[in-house]
Amino acid sequence: MSLDEYIRAMPKAELHVHLEGAVHPETLLELAADNGVSLPASDVEGLRRWYTFRDFDHFLAIYAMICGCLRRPEDFARAVYEYGRSMAEQNIRYAEVTFSPGTHILRTGGLAWHELLDAVNAGRTRAHDEFGVEMRWIPDIVRCNPDTALTVAEWAASEQSRAGGVVALGLGGPEVGYPPEWFAEAFALAHRHGLHSNPHAGETVGPESIWGALRALGAERIGHGVRAIEDPALLEHLVAQQVPLEVNPTSNLCLGVYPSYAAHPLKRLVEAGLLVTVNSDDPALFNTALVDEYRHAVEDCGLSLDELEEVALNAVRAAYLSPDEKTALLTEFEEAYARLRAEHGLEETPK
Ligand code: ADE
Ligand code: ZN
Repeated sequence: MSLDEYIRAMPKAELHVHLEGAVHPETLLELAADNGVSLPASDVEGLRRWYTFRDFDHFLAIYAMICGCLRRPEDFARAVYEYGRSMAEQNIRYAEVTFSPGTHILRTGGLAWHELLDAVNAGRTRAHDEFGVEMRWIPDIVRCNPDTALTVAEWAASEQSRAGGVVALGLGGPEVGYPPEWFAEAFALAHRHGLHSNPHAGETVGPESIWGALRALGAERIGHGVRAIEDPALLEHLVAQQVPLEVNPTSNLCLGVYPSYAAHPLKRLVEAGLLVTVNSDDPALFNTALVDEYRHAVEDCGLSLDELEEVALNAVRAAYLSPDEKTALLTEFEEAYARLRAEHGLEETPK
């Protein structure tokens, strides 16, 4: 059994994936045509070339155009359903999926929050019924629209949202120039209503952004967080508190955070004792998938098979599930890993 086959067969969970960044290029072309949006490319090869990001701001400009192609309830339901199909193809059993309601409702316009929530839940139900996959939602505030922060937090924190699978409030978009402290009120509101705090931090800004997310937003998990590697005191704190990091290696390469997998701190973060998870972030934009990220983690970032399995189990440990749900999933995953390794005689990292 090759490493690829083993990784595909492992049951997995994904905690950091953006719905808009998971839309397949083929689907995006259809949605753009249906909604009368003109994109700078008219075929998949052209879109792939377009997805060459000069820097983070260039990425965000492209991201905004992609968001503009999702307009009708059925567009969102389709995006969710198709990500659910991709989960099943990769044996991802559980995912916490981020999306940006402020962009869709307040910028693109047309849908109300309850319509958007119903639409993603229609896709979720269909994917669950057809593929048996489980999803939860993390609506995020986009940092460059701070005026939308409280509104997004109110949507996410409503009773209807929590009943409809919303588990946390996220914070995405440009970190440079938009520090976590600006969003403290929105995260306090979400916290009062029982939502978890799940901001991006330590991607394009260094350790001070992670400290800010912990102190001002009560961050319970950090999206990216890789730049914690620059601050020994922060590393010590994250280890002591076992604050999970959602690491996305290929995203970091595509957006210029690190020049190569060899330079990526994944292995050092694992060795330092952090609770590290590995994720795909925007799989369609970075031409990746969770199985590819797991392969890069071993082949290019140097994790052993034992370390990879711990990283995979960490996604369950760090999930916003009940203790009973986590225990059941952890037991199932651990048994599957032991069985797969025994069946295929994988004592060591396969080549
Ligand atoms: N939105 C989608 N992907 C993102 C990333 N990598 N960082 C910040 N915001 C994002
Ligand atoms: Zn992200």
